[in-house]
Amino acid sequence: MRSARKWTICTISILLIFYKTKEIARSEQHQEAQLTGDGELCPTRLMVNNSDKVNGRQVFPQHSVEGWKINSSLVLNIRKDILRFLDAEKDVSVVKSSFKPGDVIHYVLDRRRTLNISHNLHSLLPEVSPMKNRRFKTCAVVGNSGILLGSGCGREIDNHDFVIRCNLAPVVEFAEDVGNRSDFITMNPSVIQRAFGGFQNETDREKFVQRLAMLNDSVLWIPAFMVKGGEKHVEWVNELILKNKLKVRTAYPSLRLIHAVRGYWLTNKINIKRPSTGLLMYTLATRFCDEIHLYGFWPFPKDSIGKPVKYHYYDELKYRYFSNASPHRMPLEFKTLKMLHSKGALKLTTSKCLEA
Ligand SMILES: *[C@@H]1O[C@H](CO)[C@@H](O)[C@H](O)[C@H]1NC(C)=O
Ligand SMILES: *[C@@H]1O[C@H](CO)[C@@H](O)[C@H](O)[C@H]1NC(C)=O
Ligand SMILES: *[C@@H]1O[C@H](CO)[C@@H](O)[C@H](O)[C@H]1NC(C)=O
Ligand SMILES: *[C@@H]1O[C@H](CO)[C@@H](O)[C@H](O)[C@H]1NC(C)=O
Ligand SMILES: *[C@@H]1O[C@H](CO)[C@@H](O)[C@H](O)[C@H]1NC(C)=O
Ligand SMILES: *[C@@H]1O[C@H](CO)[C@@H](O)[C@H](O)[C@H]1NC(C)=O
Repeated sequence: MRSARKWTICTISILLIFYKTKEIARSEQHQEAQLTGDGELCPTRLMVNNSDKVNGRQVFPQHSVEGWKINSSLVLNIRKDILRFLDAEKDVSVVKSSFKPGDVIHYVLDRRRTLNISHNLHSLLPEVSPMKNRRFKTCAVVGNSGILLGSGCGREIDNHDFVIRCNLAPVVEFAEDVGNRSDFITMNPSVIQRAFGGFQNETDREKFVQRLAMLNDSVLWIPAFMVKGGEKHVEWVNELILKNKLKVRTAYPSLRLIHAVRGYWLTNKINIKRPSTGLLMYTLATRFCDEIHLYGFWPFPKDSIGKPVKYHYYDELKYRYFSNASPHRMPLEFKTLKMLHSKGALKLTTSKCLEA
């Protein structure tokens, strides 16, 4: 029985450290210099109202998908602006030729720590970007909020040309509400501990292999270079993929992706220290999707009529990113997405889906 609807957005929860390092400060300065130095640069400004309180009380935003219409010229402007900071085709993954086995790299959000590129990891790096030349009319980006429970959105989500999901979220038991297609799915290394018992026994490994086998040749996107801590899990995953000859197409975000995404949003005065996976996925998707529909994004513990919403639709994790003071700025991200919805740049569904 799933009486309680609580909430979330999928997050890069492995990123436990604020990344206020010198390197980043430098790269921000660099980006800012690029911006002020380029007279032609005139990005579409996307302002948001940064207050989510009325008379000191938290309010949960209400909005409607009724009468929503895409603004295609705005979509094109946003794609163009984002392309000044990153090219999703390239930054979605490093490729084989970027490294050789034995190379030592610095973690993106913890520059003092290093990672050795193993033979297995190297053999799983794609030869070319898994998103090269891929273009879609419609894409769904599915966050993991409990707001999806009881939504009946499964069929509508699966009807998109390309479906993006986060953190290897389970689908089969929830297909009616979340759908069951995944063309692109992210996986934080920490999910091995959280959802697959840290591969303590054969049953856990078996369950994991089956989950990946279900993905066929979809893209499995693993942020392996963010912070130290998950490398052992990443190695185990690599081993299982190779040993079982799984067809899933592994991808590992480029070392500059997070900074570039953050830089883009900063030009719009949206200061997001650490973009959530959901916001990263939207930002990447602008490159290859003409129309982006978001589901399962809801960073509040209650819905708009006050009913509790689970953090994740599939587990009992508690809401940790309430305030804008935490490294992820879910409420600010949400407000931004809502503003983009109202302008017709994307469609943000937080209500039930109606049968077409
Ligand atoms: C921002 O939103 C809050 C609550 O929705 C509202 O009370 C406030 O007037 C708004 N501020 C501006 C500048 O629009
Ligand atoms: C669509 O977006 C463009 C570019 O941002 C803007 O100039 C135009 O007014 C928008 N059209 C509608 C119908 O909102
Ligand atoms: C990484 O490689 C270096 C040089 O080959 C080696 O000294 C070091 O022990 C390796 N570290 C790990 C964690 O494997
Ligand atoms: C899920 O997958 C099954 C089998 O491929 C399919 O019949 C079903 O319609 C799919 N969608 C939903 C929402 O269950
Ligand atoms: C394997 O570990 C899981 C917990 O991670 C446990 O629920 C399960 O019973 C274990 N299975 C066996 C065969 O030990
Ligand atoms: C994977 O392929 C099998 C066999 O072609 C198919 O039945 C299944 O629905 C596919 N799964 C996904 C997630 O596309």
